[in-house]
Amino acid sequence: MSKSKAIDKDHAVYLPQDEMPTHWYNILADLPEPLPPPLDPKTLKPLSPDPLLRLFAKELVMQEVSTERFIKIPDEVYDAYLSLPRPTPLLRARRLEKYLNTPAQIYYKCEYVNPSGSHKINSALAQAYYNMVQGIERVITETGAGQWGTALAIAAALFKLKCSVYMVRASYDQKPGRRIMMETYGADVTASPSKNTKYGRSILERDPNNSGSLGIAISEAIEHTLSQDNARYCLGSVLNHVILHQTVIGLEAKKQFDMIDVQPDILCGCIGGGSNFSGFAYPFIADKLKGKSAAKFVACEPKAVPSTTRGVYTYDFGDTAEMAPVVKMYTIGHKYQPPPIHAGGLRYHGKAPSLSFLIKKGYMTSVAYGQTETFEAARILAQTEGMITAPESAHCLKYAIDEALKCKKTGEKKIIAFNNSGHGLLDLQAYDSFLNGKLEDYEPTTIDVPTIA
Ligand SMILES: Cc1ncc(COP(=O)(O)O)c(C=O)c1O
Repeated sequence: MSKSKAIDKDHAVYLPQDEMPTHWYNILADLPEPLPPPLDPKTLKPLSPDPLLRLFAKELVMQEVSTERFIKIPDEVYDAYLSLPRPTPLLRARRLEKYLNTPAQIYYKCEYVNPSGSHKINSALAQAYYNMVQGIERVITETGAGQWGTALAIAAALFKLKCSVYMVRASYDQKPGRRIMMETYGADVTASPSKNTKYGRSILERDPNNSGSLGIAISEAIEHTLSQDNARYCLGSVLNHVILHQTVIGLEAKKQFDMIDVQPDILCGCIGGGSNFSGFAYPFIADKLKGKSAAKFVACEPKAVPSTTRGVYTYDFGDTAEMAPVVKMYTIGHKYQPPPIHAGGLRYHGKAPSLSFLIKKGYMTSVAYGQTETFEAARILAQTEGMITAPESAHCLKYAIDEALKCKKTGEKKIIAFNNSGHGLLDLQAYDSFLNGKLEDYEPTTIDVPTIA
């Protein structure tokens, strides 16, 4: 008889490349009621798709309003996904489970396994492709932590487009590595607020040391786009079409759990604008909407930007300068200036309309954490599994660990799954601050959400 130990089939679950999903999943086909319509930022009347065509590639606008359940991934994008490579592994964190001494099982989807280091590339490739097909020359965007900008810079290089990125000043200063990556891919990167735009200049006149926010950077990117005919704007989160592209994560994860005959009881993810968690969760929540699943879905946000835990479900602008469409979402107000926490990708005042709707209707819940406790969770993951996660992803890791510790008390063998949306290898300065006890925790004392519509 062989002396070798049987290998557990759920250590790392690999989906063969020829089983990668061929279509994205559109939750709009399955919501119990239509989402409240987006409004024109100037008239506050329901927005027709037409003005959006000046801002986004046409196919993306079509996807934004589509209610088709499955939308085919174009061959060129499918090919680019395969070479990232996709499917990404689903890992079981056995050493973390052992360290926590929990009967729960913890799984995570490895969205950091690609050259950009995060999930953002899943939508960047699709957006760059549709712009290329339309004959657009330049894509323009903003970036918080630098992950979305990096992803779009790569995608633009692959599909031979020019790329301009407005990077939130706080991250630009904290993460020179991200800027250098984007520049290596050929993008031009500007710290926001900047002197490039009228809006940026107006902010700098009032406050020359303004550390920026995603809301301000979005306004600058939109203003720049509207000044150049053959440019289009790309957004890395919040919108329906971005979430659509991210569902490749959850569709793969569903197949991977089926392969090992395990079904998650809890799915969690961090939320900046909400795209990675939605992309991970929606293929599973489709079953819950049909009454076929009792799984729990938990969105994890920073206490410094508590949009869903302390904000209001209401109409609000997507950007600070009030140029982006007004949508109904959980928000802490578009004028909110998020504190400079290291999870730069979670410094956005609002959350995706579909995700906000699902939280409002009780299909999902949400929690908030201070940054020190999330870095403590990240340290545990690093020392047990060897993986240094992004400060953003550490928020849902913290929730997964807390749930596993609850199971230790109750003896429940829950299956907990989180989306590991990015690695933290360009966030080592933040880890250094944590290890030296220099991290500050922030929480707004009051929240002021203006009534827009
Ligand atoms: C690693 C990582 N995770 C999560 C997020 C949050 O974005 P979203 O909620 O849109 O997925 C970001 C945003 O930059 C990110 O870089």
